[in-house]
Amino acid sequence: MTDYKNPKLLINSNTIKSGRIAWRSPSNIALVKYWGKHGLQLPRNPSISLTLDKAYTETIMEYTTEGKSGDNIELDFYFEGKSNESFAEKIRKFLLNISDIFPFVKQIKFTVHSHNSFPHSSGIASSASSMSALAMCLCSLEMELFGTTYEDEEFRKKASFISRLGSGSACRSVYPHASVWGKTDDAKDSSDLFGIGYGEHIHEIFHDFHDDILIVSQGEKPVSSRAGHALMEGNAYAEPRYKQANERLSNLLIAMKEGDLEKFGTITENEALTLHALMMTSNPSYILMQPNSLEMIERIRKFRKETGLPIYFTLDAGPNIHLLYPHSIYEKVNPFILSELVPLCENDMVIRDRVGLGSVKI
Ligand code: PMV
Repeated sequence: MTDYKNPKLLINSNTIKSGRIAWRSPSNIALVKYWGKHGLQLPRNPSISLTLDKAYTETIMEYTTEGKSGDNIELDFYFEGKSNESFAEKIRKFLLNISDIFPFVKQIKFTVHSHNSFPHSSGIASSASSMSALAMCLCSLEMELFGTTYEDEEFRKKASFISRLGSGSACRSVYPHASVWGKTDDAKDSSDLFGIGYGEHIHEIFHDFHDDILIVSQGEKPVSSRAGHALMEGNAYAEPRYKQANERLSNLLIAMKEGDLEKFGTITENEALTLHALMMTSNPSYILMQPNSLEMIERIRKFRKETGLPIYFTLDAGPNIHLLYPHSIYEKVNPFILSELVPLCENDMVIRDRVGLGSVKI
């Protein structure tokens, strides 16, 4: 089992260390969804996601050992240039939680600046991009402080492990193109503890796939993902759901390897609606889709039927629609998107994203 605990990662107290590290990390969109967890952010079923490109967080971490005393976590946090105490408190807790992996976090004063490429109020979950960017910074910090060296794959695996502890789905954001998280016989080296890169195993048609994020509502979600995961514990459909997710993943991996878009789309859309069905069948029940989410789904299906073009949707835990299609049909679908879908978005807001390359040092 991977265990990154390392009591030796302590800075020699005679030397002052300071510096600055920055990473950009994207969000990701799950195709087979992670919904239900146990233990320390361990998934009830394996999932696969496409890595996004334009929806990202940039995190700058300034650090110094100068003047640091005591065993607490010292951190100032600025979001979009403004001091943000509620985010700061969350990150202090996270750093304390991982202090058996990185004991040096208690020897440092941190100043962290974080910026999202998308508006905070867009209803897009920023935890995947922000937690993975932070994890990347921490893993780089270990290398700078202790001269540790890692192969890129090992480095990303460790960063993925740390990201997972911050926010489950964040562990899939660090890799190019696609990532599988959760133990499955269908993906070699897969694990519940970290995501693995999966871009090499899928057809290249997915390497520059489009994901237009159609913002149906920018409001705060009435039920958080954390509460949603917890409600799966009492959901009557939970066990069959976990079995179904394994089967769908197995079939989706084959479809993605072969570039079979019809099979890809059928599984992806069923998954999105299953996720929302699980919310509706939770106790208490709740609904995150909104009238315009359903209207868009209808229009997408109608357009697909009429044109035969491979354009599909998915949703995450919110009302926004992710529109998925290959680059080859961009010119043909663009007029439909602009005239039929964008007017249904709140303030015409859409983030025209693509599959991207994962976290990058900046
Ligand atoms: O990582 P969390 O705890 O925010 O959960 C993410 C859940 C979904 O976005 C709905 C699905 C997924 O696999 O990303």
